[in-house]
Amino acid sequence: MIEAVGLTKRFGAKTAVDQLSFQVKPGHVTGFLGPNGSGKSTTMRMIVGLDRPTSGRVTINGLPFRELPNAQRHVGALLDAKAVHGGRRARTHLLSIAQLSGIPEKRVDEVLAVVGLQDAARQRTKGFSLGMGQRLGIATALLGDPQVLLFDEPVNGLDPEGILWVRNLMRRLAAEGRTVFVSSHLMSEMALTADHLIVIGRGRLLADMGTQEFIAHNSAGFARVRAADTDPDGRETLGRALSKAGGRVLQEPDGALRVTGLELPGISDLAHAAGVRLWELSPHRASLEEAYMRMTQSAVEYTSTEDPRAELWEQDPLALPAWEDGPSAPEVPQAGFFAPPPPGAGGKPFLMPSNPGELASTAKDSAEDTR
Ligand SMILES: Nc1ncnc2c1ncn2[C@@H]1O[C@H](COP(=O)(O)OP(=O)(O)O)[C@@H](O)[C@H]1O
Ligand SMILES: [Mg+2]
Repeated sequence: MIEAVGLTKRFGAKTAVDQLSFQVKPGHVTGFLGPNGSGKSTTMRMIVGLDRPTSGRVTINGLPFRELPNAQRHVGALLDAKAVHGGRRARTHLLSIAQLSGIPEKRVDEVLAVVGLQDAARQRTKGFSLGMGQRLGIATALLGDPQVLLFDEPVNGLDPEGILWVRNLMRRLAAEGRTVFVSSHLMSEMALTADHLIVIGRGRLLADMGTQEFIAHNSAGFARVRAADTDPDGRETLGRALSKAGGRVLQEPDGALRVTGLELPGISDLAHAAGVRLWELSPHRASLEEAYMRMTQSAVEYTSTEDPRAELWEQDPLALPAWEDGPSAPEVPQAGFFAPPPPGAGGKPFLMPSNPGELASTAKDSAEDTR
C-alpha cells in the first residue's frame, strides 16, 4: 500500500503538490488523474524518493522508500521511458539493473517476454520507437517482481494495440494482488483501466473514489425530446408544459429540447396531456470527459486563449428557449428523426409495435433471421 499524508512540494514560489493525502490499495488499479502540470509526476517522484517533500510524508508499506530494505524487490516504477542509455542494447540495460539489485539473469529474459521485446533484446535503445521505449520501461519496473508498481503516463505515444496491451497488463498485475498506481491526463483512458480514481488539479486533491462512483456522480443525465416537425406550435407548447412542471428546458441546435429534472415517463405524459405528438424521446448521459474537464477547469495550469475545450466549459452552451423571451428559435431542419433499424432487420425501418410485449419478440425474431 502507498500512503500519502499532507504531502506537499514547493519549487521556490511554486507549489507543485499541495497537502495531498490518499491511499493506494493492493489488488486494484488506481488511476492518478489530472491535467498536465497538476503535480502527478512530482508526487510519483516523491513516492520513490527522487524528490524530497517540503512537508508531509509518503510511505510504501509503512516505510519511506529510502528506508525500504532492497527497494527494487518491493517497488517498480516507470517514470520516464527515455531515461535509458541510448548506446546500450535493451537486454544489457535490463541486465545492468538486475545485477545492481541482485536479481538473477533469467528474470531479464522473463520480463523481455512479458513486454514482447524478445526480438528487440539485442537492439540499441536509441533506435527504439516511443512504444518500444515504454515497453522497456515497463520491463524495468517489473524486473524485481515487486508488489507495488508505479507507471507515469505509460500509454503516452502508444498505438491503440499498445494501449490495450498496457490496460490488460495493469489489470492482470492488480488481479495478482499488487498495488498498481497509474497516472494519466486522459479521463477516457482511466475510466477503462482503473477501478479507483485519485483526481488532482494544481497539486490539490479533487476526488478520491471508485471509478463507477465517479461516473455516476459526474455524468449528469438529460432527456432529448422532439415534437413532430409537422406541428409548428408543438415545440413551444411542449417547452411551456415541461417548464411549468419544473423541468429545465434548453433548446438544441436541431430543434429538439434538452430536458433535465423530469423523468422520461413524466415527459411523455406531459406531452400527451398537452396534445403534442413526439418524434423523439431519448435518455442521454453527459460524457465523462466533459465532467472531468469541468472539474479540473479552474485547475488547468496552461490554457491557450483559443482553447478548443472552452466551449465545453460554458455554463449554458445552448440557446435560451423562445418562450423565455430569448432570441427567436432557430430554423427547424426539414429532415425528421427516425430510429435506425435494429441490427438484423435487413435495413428495413423499425416500426414500433402497438403492444410493448411484441417489442422483445420482434427483436428476437429479427436477430434469428440473420443466422
Ligand atoms: N524540478 C522542478 N523545478 C521547478 N518546477 C517544477 C519542477 N518539477 C515540476 N515543476 C513544476 O511543478 C508543477 C507540477 O509538475 P508535474 O508534477 O510534472 O505535473 P504533471 O506530471 O501532473 O504534468 C508544474 O508546474 C511544473 O512546472
Ligand atoms: Mg507528468
